[in-house]
Amino acid sequence: MSIVVLLSGSGTNLQAIMDAGHPFIDEGRINVKFVMSDRHDAYGLTRAKEKKIPTVSQPRLNLLEKEVTKLCKANKVELIVLAGFMRLLNPGFVKKWKGKIINIHPSLLPSFKGAHAIKKAYDYGVKYTGVTVHYVDKGMDTGSIITQEVVPIKKSDTLASLEEKIHKVEHKLYPNTIRELLNG
Ligand code: GRF
Repeated sequence: MSIVVLLSGSGTNLQAIMDAGHPFIDEGRINVKFVMSDRHDAYGLTRAKEKKIPTVSQPRLNLLEKEVTKLCKANKVELIVLAGFMRLLNPGFVKKWKGKIINIHPSLLPSFKGAHAIKKAYDYGVKYTGVTVHYVDKGMDTGSIITQEVVPIKKSDTLASLEEKIHKVEHKLYPNTIRELLNG
């Protein structure tokens, strides 16, 4: 029951995944084998090191994908989890790992794909937005949807308060969904 996490930035979702479950009992814990990034300076790598989880950073996407495949095969990793990974994976890599790569996106897909999804929903004036966990295919945020959670946008919401609400939902939804997928 192990995963690898790919990220490019702050890694609050990684933190939620690492912290999920009981602090002293293994059951319910998600085994994060490696944390990998396309950026040497991603703060998520520091979060992983604090938990003594091995890290790899490689800005060249082809080389990063090769390394992911090598480590996943050698360590029997079952799921590749994208958590704020800002690059579009190559079609060959996605095909090889079909059904084994998931992503979290801060909107109700198919609305507001791509970067700045929370701001796009806020600026558009929708009354409901949310969070989507989906399988990764070769498109941008186009893979089949695993689960979604709705977040209403109230008149009193600012962009900052909406961001906070969305991230709070992400930090519960992602670990729970990963656990369900790993448990079949
Ligand atoms: C999250 O909002 C996630 O939905 C999106 O990128 C952001 C990553 O945040 N894909 P963090 O690095 O986990 O804090």
